[in-house]
Amino acid sequence: MDTTAASTSSTSPISSAGAAPLKVAVILGSNRDGRFGPVVADWFLGRAARHPGIETDLIDVAEAGLPTAITFSPGPEEAARLVAVSERLAAADAFVVLTPEYNHSFPAPLKTLIDWHSAEWQAKPVAFVSYGGISGGLRAVEQLRQVFAELHTVTVRDTVSFHNAGALFDDEGRHRDPGPADAAAKVLLDQVVWWGTALRDARKSRPYGA
Ligand SMILES: Cc1cc2nc3c(=O)[nH]c(=O)nc-3n(C[C@H](O)[C@H](O)[C@H](O)COP(=O)(O)O)c2cc1C
Repeated sequence: MDTTAASTSSTSPISSAGAAPLKVAVILGSNRDGRFGPVVADWFLGRAARHPGIETDLIDVAEAGLPTAITFSPGPEEAARLVAVSERLAAADAFVVLTPEYNHSFPAPLKTLIDWHSAEWQAKPVAFVSYGGISGGLRAVEQLRQVFAELHTVTVRDTVSFHNAGALFDDEGRHRDPGPADAAAKVLLDQVVWWGTALRDARKSRPYGA
């Protein structure tokens, strides 16, 4: 199975009420050799492309390759890697984190990407699409809510989760029973657009005082 998500960005043809499309950074949180994450990413980006008023930017922790040792004086190579990701996070109005569950939590490379940043997250919504074995990644999501509260975000109530994810998709990455998952993605994206638009307007009218 391909371990690279197919597309990196898309723009929905319709934006809400003539406003600029909401910029949604979709963060793929797994970098494991042979990972399933790109299947979930491609599925989600397909749903997002059909949702009015948003444009997506896929940020893959495997491509970002951020160092695990955080430093306030990164060398030139580390700084270049960092800025490539930081600018895209800063440009986003909202985030959707795609996370598997590893040992009842979220993957280390996802936490590395989170910890390298601070202001980029602030006063923006974060939603979650999770996958895993029997848990569907739900424990990873609940732990991520605590992490993102520290970073002055609003986490979106509804999630999409895939239990025993590998069995839910065919070899082409198509969901075998797409209806309920598509409906869950729509609910999540509606909430992302509501929070993302409200907080974008709020940040414009008054800088967030963290
Ligand atoms: C190190 C490791 C720990 C895991 N722990 C859990 C777990 O605690 N709960 C669960 O439901 N699935 C668990 N799984 C299954 C993964 O969530 C599942 O294989 C998922 O596809 C991993 O995402 P990835 O393929 O994108 O890396 C674990 C997998 C790995 C590799």
